[in-house]
Amino acid sequence: MEVHASAPGKAILCGEHAVVYGLPAIAIPLSGIRARAIGKASADTLTIFAEDLGQAPLRIVGDEYDRANPLSLMAGLTAKLVGAASMSGEIRIRSELPIASGLGSGAAVSAALGRAVAQLYGAEIPDEDLNRIVFEVEKLHHGTPSGIDNTVVVYEKPVYFRRDAALEVITIRSGLRIVLADTGVASLTRDAVADVRALARKAPKRTGRIFDEIGTIVAEARDCIERGSLDRLGALMTANHELLQALTVSSPELDSLVDAAMKAGALGAKLSGGGRGGNIIALCAEDSLCDVKDSLLAAGSKQVLVNGAGHGSRDDDSD
Ligand code: PMV
Repeated sequence: MEVHASAPGKAILCGEHAVVYGLPAIAIPLSGIRARAIGKASADTLTIFAEDLGQAPLRIVGDEYDRANPLSLMAGLTAKLVGAASMSGEIRIRSELPIASGLGSGAAVSAALGRAVAQLYGAEIPDEDLNRIVFEVEKLHHGTPSGIDNTVVVYEKPVYFRRDAALEVITIRSGLRIVLADTGVASLTRDAVADVRALARKAPKRTGRIFDEIGTIVAEARDCIERGSLDRLGALMTANHELLQALTVSSPELDSLVDAAMKAGALGAKLSGGGRGGNIIALCAEDSLCDVKDSLLAAGSKQVLVNGAGHGSRDDDSD
């Protein structure tokens, strides 16, 4: 018997970085771009194959998982949760998500793997428990994660996220036409987060003001999403990008893609995620979608994806 599990990528619409300091942020699942885990039973050891992540096969014997390895930790914590004394089986990870580019690859791989490990033992993990474990693994990837990535990826719903607060799912009034454009520059979120922390120590008042301004943008953006005010939402996203520039987490490549999207008629554009590299996200009206896409490719984007957030469906564990 084979088991199949998956989890989506994600994009942050607004609020990244400030969210680490307790301000709100909004993220949406990218249901069309997923990490998948396919498992089957086998004796003695659990072997995880993850070529898409550039990793050699990983073997876990008994309950001896490696807390410093994200795949091993995820499998180990899941086995513990479902009461499996020792691990066995074969799991193959496949991921359509680029690594280190702000699309939630780490959280999606963890969530898909956790679901597959649980299924191998005939169990189903409630999202609440899965979210808690994926968050533990996120600490290996990001150092001090806010928890937004695991939350949006596990629940696969648009979220208004605040650290240590109850989950708030938001309703997208009119579908959001989102274009994601990859700079092709891989960057580690943990480095960008550490640099923002250093900035907050060096210039606490100024940085605190930027965080507060981002918080105000996020609150209004939520209102716009729920009321369908897309022009205003776009303007807020672009203003958020400027504040992220002030936090030093943009880059020439990100700025040039944001400019290209705006010149081609996007309603708004900003970097999405940790920054320094990775993706920008542009909000578009239907009639500018093609122009924005072309302009981003002409400006050097390595990959352009179009996502209809709010119209996506959950591609679930039965595939
Ligand atoms: O995983 P990324 O690169 O999308 O970044 C997550 C957003 C940050 O706010 C930069 C970090 C965090 O933990 O919230």
